[in-house]
Amino acid sequence: MSEDGRRASLAVRARCALGEGATWCARTGRFYWTDIEGSRLYRYDPCTGERTSWAMPERLATFALCADPHYLLLGLATHLAFFDLTTREMRRIVEVEPGLDTRLNDGRCDRQGRFVFGTKHEGATLSAVQTGFKAEHGLQCGFCTPGMMMTATSLLEHNDSPTEGDIRAAISGNLCRCTGYVNIIKAIQHAAAEIRGESPTSSHDAPLTAVTT
Ligand code: FES
Repeated sequence: MSEDGRRASLAVRARCALGEGATWCARTGRFYWTDIEGSRLYRYDPCTGERTSWAMPERLATFALCADPHYLLLGLATHLAFFDLTTREMRRIVEVEPGLDTRLNDGRCDRQGRFVFGTKHEGATLSAVQTGFKAEHGLQCGFCTPGMMMTATSLLEHNDSPTEGDIRAAISGNLCRCTGYVNIIKAIQHAAAEIRGESPTSSHDAPLTAVTT
């Protein structure tokens, strides 16, 4: 219960395998989300309690509201499509990275209505930097992670034995809103050790302290 007495309660017991993309449509008063691994789009109307879901032809990674509220822009695993919520008609717009072992991942509309999205590599071996971030829990909310990983990769290409100061200087242009720089630094140190051919051990069980760059 919050300080002003409001109480949170469970609206939908969806049991999604990987629920993401919670989006409120103010025009229709409905709430949308996707179960990526379940390949299913969900809608919930809090006024009526009605819950609707649509099976997707493949994993639905992301979606966006459209100017016409009867449509959604879908970011499916391999392509973009418009989806008519009334007729269920799917209109394919474009294939994304055909021939590559990737799928769409997160996406959002900007304030001009442009849909910006990323893709992720599937079934690939993790790089040393990716392994380091995973082992040391450097991912946290993930917002700054792509930039941190690219910065770390660039740093380690030129210096496989960076000091903590080198790492702090390298990532100083990337702000982490989670302010969890400790694990990010450990992740890069972990990656450096792997690149040097050592066998780094994870320190993620060690107590954490809040440090900012
Ligand atoms: S991990 Fe959340 S912003 Fe850096």
